[in-house]
Amino acid sequence: MKICSIGAGYVGGPTMVVIAEQCPEIEVEVTDVNEERIAAWNSEKLPVFEPGLDEIVKKVRGKNLTFSTDIDEAIRTSDIIFLAVNTPTKTYGDGAGKASDLTYIESAVRRIAEVATGDKIIVEKSTLPVRTAEKIRRILATNRHGCNFEILSNPEFMAEGTAVEDLRHPDRILIGGDETESGQKAVQTLVDVYAHWVPREKILTQNVWSSELSKLASNAFLAQKISSINALSVLCEHSGADVDEIARSVGADSRIGPKFLKSSVGFGGSCFKKDVLNLIYLCEYAGLTEVARYWQQVIDMNEYQKHRFARFIREKLFGSLRNKKIAIFGFAFKKDTNDTRETPAITVCQDLLEEQAKLAIYDPKVPEETVRRDLRPYPADLITITQTPYEAAEEAHAIVILTEWDEFIALDYEKIFKNMQQPAFVFDGRNLLDLNRLRTIGFEAYGIGKPRA
Ligand code: NAD
Ligand code: UDX
Repeated sequence: MKICSIGAGYVGGPTMVVIAEQCPEIEVEVTDVNEERIAAWNSEKLPVFEPGLDEIVKKVRGKNLTFSTDIDEAIRTSDIIFLAVNTPTKTYGDGAGKASDLTYIESAVRRIAEVATGDKIIVEKSTLPVRTAEKIRRILATNRHGCNFEILSNPEFMAEGTAVEDLRHPDRILIGGDETESGQKAVQTLVDVYAHWVPREKILTQNVWSSELSKLASNAFLAQKISSINALSVLCEHSGADVDEIARSVGADSRIGPKFLKSSVGFGGSCFKKDVLNLIYLCEYAGLTEVARYWQQVIDMNEYQKHRFARFIREKLFGSLRNKKIAIFGFAFKKDTNDTRETPAITVCQDLLEEQAKLAIYDPKVPEETVRRDLRPYPADLITITQTPYEAAEEAHAIVILTEWDEFIALDYEKIFKNMQQPAFVFDGRNLLDLNRLRTIGFEAYGIGKPRA
C-alpha cells in the first residue's frame, strides 16, 4: 500500500511522519508545491519544530518515508491520498473574514481528477466546512479514466508543540465515510492503517457530515472554554479572586474537567479563530443568527483580552510608552512551537508599537525574519530581536511575558531586576511566574486574573 499527502505543513508533515513510523510496510510520500518546504523536510533543519519530530524523521526518511514536489507522480502511485493543504480564512469577496478559503483544496482535488488513472481513497485531513466532501465529489467526477474515488473525512486533532505525542497517542481518531458498501470498505481500509498503533475503541466512525462538523465543534468548544475563563479573569481582577484558583475548583468537577482552563492573554494559533469564524459563517449562511452570535462572543472575548492586556501595560507605565523600552519574552502562539500564526504577541506588540514603545523581543524558536514580517509595517528601529532574555530586559522599563516557554521560569530575575529601569514591571500574560517572588525582588508584578498586590 502507498499513502501520500498533498500539503507538507504543520499537519501534513508530522501526520505522515508518524504513519510512516508506525506502519513500516506502508510507503508514505509527503508532497507540496512549496519547493523550499520540501527541501527543508529533506534537510537537517526541518521546517516545523516539534519535540521528538527530528528523531523519527531521521529514523524513517529514505526508508518508507519520502518528501517530494512531484505531486502528479504521488497521486498516480498512491492508494490513499490525504488532503492536508491550508484552508485559511477568506480575505476577499463574499464571506471575507469568516468563511474558509477553499482555493487550495480545490486546486489539489482538480489535480487528482486530472492525473489519477486508478481508484483512490481521498481523505480530508484539512479542516473543512461541513459538506465540502460534496464539492470534492463533483470535481473528482470530471476524471476521464473512470476511476472510483471514495471520500473520507478524517480531521486532525493534534495540537502544535505536542504533535508527536498527540499523533502517537490520540484521544480518538475520527473517520467519516459514506454509508454505501464501497464507502464502508474505504472506511475499513483507513481504520486498518490507524489500528497499527491506535486501540480500536478509540477509532470512531461516523457519517461524513458529522465528522466534518465534529472538527469545527471540537475547536469551538475548546476556544469557548478559554474565553470563559478569560471572561472570569477580568472579574477576578476586580474582586481579589485568583483565576487559577477558580480554574482549579471549577475544573475539579469531572463534568467540566481541568484542561483548557488556563487563563491567558488570549488564544492564538492558526486554528481556533479560523475554525470558530468558519462555524459562525456556516450558521449565518443557514440564517441561524442567534447561534452565530453565540459563537461570535468567543472571538470577541479573545480580542478584548489581548487589547485589554496592552492597555493595562500602558496605564501601569504611567500612561505613556513613547521611547520606553519593553522586553517581550516569547512570540510564538504557545510554547514548544516556532509557529506565530494568530499569536496574541502580534496584537499586544502592535498595540505597544502604536504607542511608540521600543520593543526588545526574545523567543527561543521564532526566527528574527518571522517576527519582523509579523510586525510590519511598524518602523524597524522600534524593534530589536535579541539572542537572550537578559539582553532584552537590559535597561527595559518592563518585561511582558507572551509565551509560556519553560526557560522563562528559571531565569535569574534578581540579576535582571538590577539592570532594569526603576520602577521595574513584569506583566505576565501567561501566569507562568510566581508573582510574589518577583515582588520580593522589587518588581511590580501583574498577572492575568490575579489579585493586585
Ligand atoms: P500549512 O500552511 O502549514 O501547510 C499547508 C501546506 O499545503 C503548505 O505547505 C502549502 O504550500 C501546501 N499547499 C497548498 N496548496 C497546495 C496544492 N494545491 N498542492 C500541494 N500543496 C499545497 O497548514 P497546516 O497548519 O498544516 O494546516 C493544514 C490544514 O490542517 C488546515 O485545514 C488546518 O485547519 C488543519 N489543521 C491544522 C492544525 C495545526 O495545528 N496547524 C491542526 C489540525 C488541523
Ligand atoms: C488546537 C486544538 O487544541 C487541536 O485539537 C486542533 O487540532 C488544532 O487547534 P493548537 O492551536 O495547536 O491546537 O494549540 P492549543 O494547545 O489548542 O492552544 C491554542 C491556543 O490557546 C494557544 O495560544 C494556547 O496558549 C491557548 N490556550 C490553551 C490558553 O490560553 N489556555 C488554555 O488553557 C489552553
